[in-house]
Amino acid sequence: MTAPAEPHVMKTYGRLPIALSHGRGCRVWDTDGREYLDALGGIAVNTLGHAHPRLVPALQEQIGRLIHSSNYYHVPLQEQLAAKLCELSGLSNAFFCSTGLEANEAAIKIARKFGHDKGVEHPEIVVYEAAFHGRSIATLSATGNTKVQAGFGPLVEGFVRVPLNDLAALDEVRRTRPNVVAVFLETIQGEGGINASRWEYLQDLRRVCNDQDWLLMLDEVQCGIGRTGKWFAHQWAGIQPDVMPLAKGLGSGVPIGAVVCGPKAAGVFGPGNHGSTFGGNPLAMRAGIETLTIMEADGLLANAAEVGALLKAGFEREFSGIAGVKEIRGAGLMIGIELDRPCGELLGRACEAGLLISVTAESVIRLLPPLIVTAEEGAQIVALLAPLVRQFLASPKP
Ligand SMILES: Cc1ncc(COP(=O)(O)O)c(C=O)c1O
Repeated sequence: MTAPAEPHVMKTYGRLPIALSHGRGCRVWDTDGREYLDALGGIAVNTLGHAHPRLVPALQEQIGRLIHSSNYYHVPLQEQLAAKLCELSGLSNAFFCSTGLEANEAAIKIARKFGHDKGVEHPEIVVYEAAFHGRSIATLSATGNTKVQAGFGPLVEGFVRVPLNDLAALDEVRRTRPNVVAVFLETIQGEGGINASRWEYLQDLRRVCNDQDWLLMLDEVQCGIGRTGKWFAHQWAGIQPDVMPLAKGLGSGVPIGAVVCGPKAAGVFGPGNHGSTFGGNPLAMRAGIETLTIMEADGLLANAAEVGALLKAGFEREFSGIAGVKEIRGAGLMIGIELDRPCGELLGRACEAGLLISVTAESVIRLLPPLIVTAEEGAQIVALLAPLVRQFLASPKP
């Protein structure tokens, strides 16, 4: 593998020394013709894998018709996708943008204006340790990772941080911070290391938010859109949020973001309060509609649950009795394998073995394959990754 020279691209990423050229299903090929099994899915983006035979012609048709108009005019596909997201979530209205951080920015603005509308002049939002919400100034301020924040102060004020799944800490906030207007968390933390909110904790949050007249805002940018085996991960807890930012998998690779709201939040923005030039453009909307249609037609939620369970069982079998593997966790096709040491070098080793994965929170191997992944491909992921992890753990700890 030789790194392509990139003298003109800003060095914001530590990249592996390959460039991908094309893909089909869960397979991708690099510019030297080497094949890889994709267990990363573009970081939970390529819901339908690569070059999906029904998505591609639909997008080609849309590109030939209209890519972008403007929010000066009605965009009928926005209503179609908004209605579908409301049907799937039980919420009532959607705003469209182009990325996850933009969806989260919209959520933060909704929370603040919700506060101002009820007379709270300095509204505060409860956020979480190890959370990740994006890299704009407001979303990195909400993020619970000092590495993401370092060098970008002063941070945005108005966030109160608590540990995940700790009701006593939230209770303390409730008693001492009268300006709180919302609670904002990922249903399952992705970048933070695949840390799930306990379902009972989410139910408690829903109750507290109702009692306090706070908004419950669930960032489903990474864990939403069928990845856990339900349309949205919070549906496992049988609750509904007031505000739900989405992005990543919604467009199967076409940039898209959405913030979907229930009745308590849907009327907070009025004309002129928020906007986005690219948000809701016909190409992105068509990508969202086709993604959800194909997911439904092909039973991809059930597939995510089934293949996810096979992957987990496979890794549990392979790693049973191996002390360096601390925990295998997650839901559906959002899987984290926590090791007892930093394991970033596994990225390169897996790539050399023909497997694309991710490592997050330093010591957690993260798998986010396309939702079309088959049981056979799941078994191949286990067969490729397990020996690499065992070999890695057999070498002395640094
Ligand atoms: C939970 C969560 N929220 C927000 C974001 C930011 O999304 P984007 O990179 O599209 O801005 C991410 C990205 O990883 C994420 O995982």
